[in-house]
Amino acid sequence: MKAKIEALLNEVAAFATDSKEELEQYRLKYLSKKGIIPSLFGEFKNVAPEFRKEMGQALNNLKNAAQTKFNEIQSHIEENTTDDTDNGDLSLPIDFEKLGSRHPLSIVRNQIIDIFSRIGFTVSEGPEIEDDFHNFTALNFPQEHPARDMQDTFFIEKNPDIALRTHTSSVQVRVMENSKPPIRTISPGRVFRNEAISARAHCIFHQVEGLYVDKDVSFADLKQTLLYFARELFGEHTKIRLRPSYFPFTEPSAEMDISCNICGGKGCNICKYTGWVEILGCGMVDPNVLDNCGINSKEYTGFAFGMGIERITMLKYQIDDIRLFFENNKRFLKQFDAAL
Ligand code: DAH
Repeated sequence: MKAKIEALLNEVAAFATDSKEELEQYRLKYLSKKGIIPSLFGEFKNVAPEFRKEMGQALNNLKNAAQTKFNEIQSHIEENTTDDTDNGDLSLPIDFEKLGSRHPLSIVRNQIIDIFSRIGFTVSEGPEIEDDFHNFTALNFPQEHPARDMQDTFFIEKNPDIALRTHTSSVQVRVMENSKPPIRTISPGRVFRNEAISARAHCIFHQVEGLYVDKDVSFADLKQTLLYFARELFGEHTKIRLRPSYFPFTEPSAEMDISCNICGGKGCNICKYTGWVEILGCGMVDPNVLDNCGINSKEYTGFAFGMGIERITMLKYQIDDIRLFFENNKRFLKQFDAAL
């Protein structure tokens, strides 16, 4: 019997498998009720009394070794099975989620910010809900000016002093109130006007305001800054022209055209066969505005300009309907992926 037990101990120690079926056969052969080890316990009664202690220990030893082996292999098989089914093939390449594309207005706004930041302009922001002083009065709008009219401005019903800002020029007032020259800043932002929505106009749109205040700032500085800007944004062959105009907050005031970026100035339906398209308003900051904002107009001069981001984006990408910017049609938005 001793020799048998030793032989079985060696068999059990040598047993190894990855397969559930083979493990089950092992269990049946050695551990089940009719298996070899329980049957050896059955033979135990025939062992001579003087060997019983030794045999008993050897048998228990064999039984424990066989059971431990079974438990180890069983948990090993279970671990491996769950790994396979739950985690799939971990060596497969990752399937990246497709990201959305940037909105064309954001692309152009970021380009404008980038162009001006290269010549020392910071970015400043102001509130979309404004008071009359920052949107109109400080900017030299007379009390009876038509732009204050209900037709253009969204006023808050209970408080006629509060309105949605109609332009980002309100931010130049806030910047001048809160800082000392030299000031060089642009203010991109959303503006609101009570207008009928059409292919050309919307009640919500975006502007970028620019402001430069220092000693001896001249109209020539304004012109050169805007020429640099137009060439950076529309290409190095772009020409500019300034036409006299009127804004309450600048004196003198002008509107700026660029040579048509579609036909290069030869004439096409975008520029209505004139060769020029208007892109912004500008001028020298009116001394009244400087004084209204706490800057001494005897000491300092400045220039300002303001442009619509929708208009510039429409020109750059030949988009013919402003409403497309707000509809979020994926087929429209996806086309600007490459411009990122
Ligand atoms: N605020 C004007 C508008 O909304 C645009 C503008 C024109 C801004 C001339 C300026 C400027 O700073 O000098 O139409």
